Amino acid sequence: MKIAVIGAGRMGAALGRLWAKAGHAVVLCDVRPIEELEALAREIGHGTRAAHAQEAVADSDVILLAVPWASIRDALARCGSLAGKVVIDVINPHKSDFSDLEIGFTTSASEEIAKLAPGAKVCKALNTLPSPVFNLPECKVSGMKVSGFYCGDDEQAKQIVAQLVSDAGFDPVDCGPLSSARYLEAAGMLLIRIVVALKASPELALTLVRQDKPCC
Ligand SMILES: NC(=O)c1ccc[n+]([C@@H]2O[C@H](COP(=O)([O-])OP(=O)(O)OC[C@H]3O[C@@H](n4cnc5c(N)ncnc54)[C@H](OP(=O)(O)O)[C@@H]3O)[C@@H](O)[C@H]2O)c1
Repeated sequence: MKIAVIGAGRMGAALGRLWAKAGHAVVLCDVRPIEELEALAREIGHGTRAAHAQEAVADSDVILLAVPWASIRDALARCGSLAGKVVIDVINPHKSDFSDLEIGFTTSASEEIAKLAPGAKVCKALNTLPSPVFNLPECKVSGMKVSGFYCGDDEQAKQIVAQLVSDAGFDPVDCGPLSSARYLEAAGMLLIRIVVALKASPELALTLVRQDKPCC
């Protein structure tokens, strides 16, 4: 797939790297100077490119939104129309001091993005993964493959997202409609609180444990 990464920071660069390694055509976009992005693209390799958002979006099937919540309106304005595109949103809409969510319960970042980007097939995905997990071998925590939770309202888009979650090395877990993003974002916030409470290095993740066969 052709994937435009909007926001090539911790989450965006890490996911772009995993998808490029899996054979996808990745293009990085950011507010940083294009020369800096080109250096990152060369370091990632596998044909990764850097480009301005509007050009990258027009030429891509999938758009990864990996910017801070406070920057979302500016990031979307830089993208131009997202109509018809599969949009993967990893954003946790927390306050800049990480103390709490800005929005929740009756809406979510994903639902607000869907309103701001008419025609886009918005899915929430991978927002419960702390970025240090990407530095672990095969992104496994204690040798265990980690859940990649996702949700959305467009079934075809969700199939693409499930495949990309899997290609990145995570176990795709369908969480239902886009409104489930309210709970995935709350789970992302919970994880931040756990890291603070444990005073731990955030090499941890939320995962769904399933029994392969019914127990009785
Ligand atoms: N880090 C985590 O563990 C984690 C886990 C789950 C979800 N998330 C979510 O993922 C998102 C990104 O987090 P992150 O930790 O990757 O942050 P980050 O390292 O700060 O990366 C964000 C990137 O977006 C760029 N950016 C800012 N405004 C932009 C705009 N208007 N257009 C394009 N690019 C823009 C930033 O550029 P500058 O640095 O130049 O401003 C930066 O490169 C957040 O919404 C966060 O809630 C993060």
